[in-house]
Amino acid sequence: MLLLCKFLYRNLRGYRFLIILAILVTFAQVGADLAAALPLKFIPSKINNPGSDPTCTFPFLDGVLNFFDTPVLDPSLRPLQANQPPNQPPPAPCPATPSDPNSVLHPRITQHSVIGVIVFSLLILVVFGLLSALLVYIELFLATFIAQNLSAQLRRGLFDHLQRLSLDWHDRQKKGDLVQRVTGNIADIEKLVTDGLVDLLAGILTLIGIIVIMLFISKEYTLLSLAIAPLLLFIVTGYTGNIKAAARKKAKAAGKIADVATEDINALTVIRAFTLESRENQRFGTHVGSHQQAGLRAGRLQAQFTPLVSTLVVFGTLIVLGVGGYVAAGNGVNFGFITINPSTIDVGTLILFLTYLKMLYQPIRDLSKLVTLASNGASGVERIQEVLDQAQEVIETNVPYYGPQKLQGDITFENVVFSYLADRPVLKGINLHIPAGRKVALVGYSGSGKTTLAKLIPRFYDIEQGSLKIDGLDNRMYPLHILRMNISMVLQDSVLFEGTVRENLEIGRPGAPLEEVISASMKANIHDVILNLPDGYETVVREQGNNFSAGQRQRLAIARAILRDTPILILDEPTANLDVEAEAEVMHALNTLIAGRTVLTISHRLSTLGQVDEILVMQNGQIIERGSYWELKHNKGVFASLLEEQNRYNFESPELEFDESETTIVFRAVNNLESPELEHDESVNDHSRSRF
Ligand SMILES: Nc1ncnc2c1ncn2[C@@H]1O[C@H](COP(=O)(O)OP(=O)(O)O)[C@@H](O)[C@H]1O
Ligand SMILES: [Mg+2]
Repeated sequence: MLLLCKFLYRNLRGYRFLIILAILVTFAQVGADLAAALPLKFIPSKINNPGSDPTCTFPFLDGVLNFFDTPVLDPSLRPLQANQPPNQPPPAPCPATPSDPNSVLHPRITQHSVIGVIVFSLLILVVFGLLSALLVYIELFLATFIAQNLSAQLRRGLFDHLQRLSLDWHDRQKKGDLVQRVTGNIADIEKLVTDGLVDLLAGILTLIGIIVIMLFISKEYTLLSLAIAPLLLFIVTGYTGNIKAAARKKAKAAGKIADVATEDINALTVIRAFTLESRENQRFGTHVGSHQQAGLRAGRLQAQFTPLVSTLVVFGTLIVLGVGGYVAAGNGVNFGFITINPSTIDVGTLILFLTYLKMLYQPIRDLSKLVTLASNGASGVERIQEVLDQAQEVIETNVPYYGPQKLQGDITFENVVFSYLADRPVLKGINLHIPAGRKVALVGYSGSGKTTLAKLIPRFYDIEQGSLKIDGLDNRMYPLHILRMNISMVLQDSVLFEGTVRENLEIGRPGAPLEEVISASMKANIHDVILNLPDGYETVVREQGNNFSAGQRQRLAIARAILRDTPILILDEPTANLDVEAEAEVMHALNTLIAGRTVLTISHRLSTLGQVDEILVMQNGQIIERGSYWELKHNKGVFASLLEEQNRYNFESPELEFDESETTIVFRAVNNLESPELEHDESVNDHSRSRF
């Protein structure tokens, strides 16, 4: 709760003026509401007994009421002759209060016209009624305004922060949970401010106001009238708490039902294959059962709650009406500790009390609702603050950078050690130099740390020991946007965003002219596919690219990278999810992309690596072998055994004749076409081939 208050105080700083205004408006509104009920007493009291005048309870009204004692309203005040002053209303004593001897011995004399009091009361009713309506509007609007601004500001801030948090942290979070924080938890806080600000304050003020006015009119009668209030409060709080708990249980069970249903419907084939139907029915049934139980409990409690409250209200009304009527009829009441003298209550008081009691029940209900709102809000705040307290990913350097915007692409790892979890290093002393323009492949068993190594280059994670330099400068010394502007990545699965195909390609270089976008897609071998789409480049991408095949998505990603035109290129198994045909097309597109860049490619299709400059074999976070394809193949080391393993089931080529597969040839052909500097490496390879 303290955290909640602090959080709101901090985040509502810009809205202090509006909040004070809202509070003042709420005060005025509650006052107007209470005042608008007063005529319910004034009129019947005055009619019943001309001495029972509003001025008896509120002496300051004397002057105002004089104004209404006019022959215009009350014909009985008309003078007999036109030029005489108007008549005065007859004087009458105010009702005496037995507990105050003075009021018995020297009763206050009041002298106001009955019709005048009626008109005055009606005016009060109208003026304060309308005023209250207007103030309710202002107060609700202010509350919504503040809440909407707060939630928008919180959402923007939280989202921005989430985007900057380290991937390391994100790896440890559940995605749905984070989304829930951005949407649901902030909505809870918003709801607390919208409903809470007004309802809490208005509720408390109404409670206090009503009790004060009632006490002012008759202490004893008030105590009797409020006899049911504690019981009401108890029932309301108890029931709403239990109903909420049941509703939460129900919602949780509903979530489980959805989980199991989605999981099973997606796995129908497996379920049938293993004849798991009855086991799954049982699992599903358990959740359906608890959903049903919780739903029944919530419904039962709700069904009890409403009539219970009405019953209590009936008893409250019974006390007020019974006691009030009995006393008004001229009888005394004695309950031992409470004594009410005859005639100290009149019809007006009775009606006013009945009205106020009705007004009292609503705030009591609201207050119990507020407890829930506040506890939801508090847990929301906790969960949001938890995210906001996380330090941002890698820290931006504050050393000014004067170097070039476009880097050369020379990468050096020196003794790099890195771990995701403390004391469990994933990279254990990597030494690696990739001169600008060189193409290096990283291979090894899955889990050996290849992806991790690649992710260190754009500084998705900070290294623990050693150094990682780009163009000779530690990568921590570059502003993040400069570093990342110089690196393109094509990953196993490429994500397309909502928007058109063209917009998706332009992510590579925002604002690129259409001709360049088209030329990039041509190079990436995807132009024809795009032209065949219903709207060409303006075709809308559905749900992360579900209307594209995996191979098409990869080629779009390659076109993006071609547009981006960075000196460093990281390929992390870009063809791993593709069939042979799509792979060939993607490889073809890749050949265009890699020309003239520093390339780090991760691949487990070893047969496609014939033409890279160097192959690094990783095992357990270390580089254990390096060399050209032919060197490694004939080395009889890990690479050779990997290669053998891959070809073990390839009965056609026990001797690995398949090395020069189509894809390799494509790779080479384009290399030769577009990067003559590779000629040299070609000869190295030829040399090594002849040597081994
Ligand atoms: N985000 C992560 N958090 C914790 N451990 C991770 C994370 N990513 C990868 N690892 C662990 O690091 C090791 C290397 O993973 P990775 O670099 O993805 O291997 P590769 O790409 O060679 O298959 C694995 O043991 C993996 O479990
Ligand atoms: Mg990997």
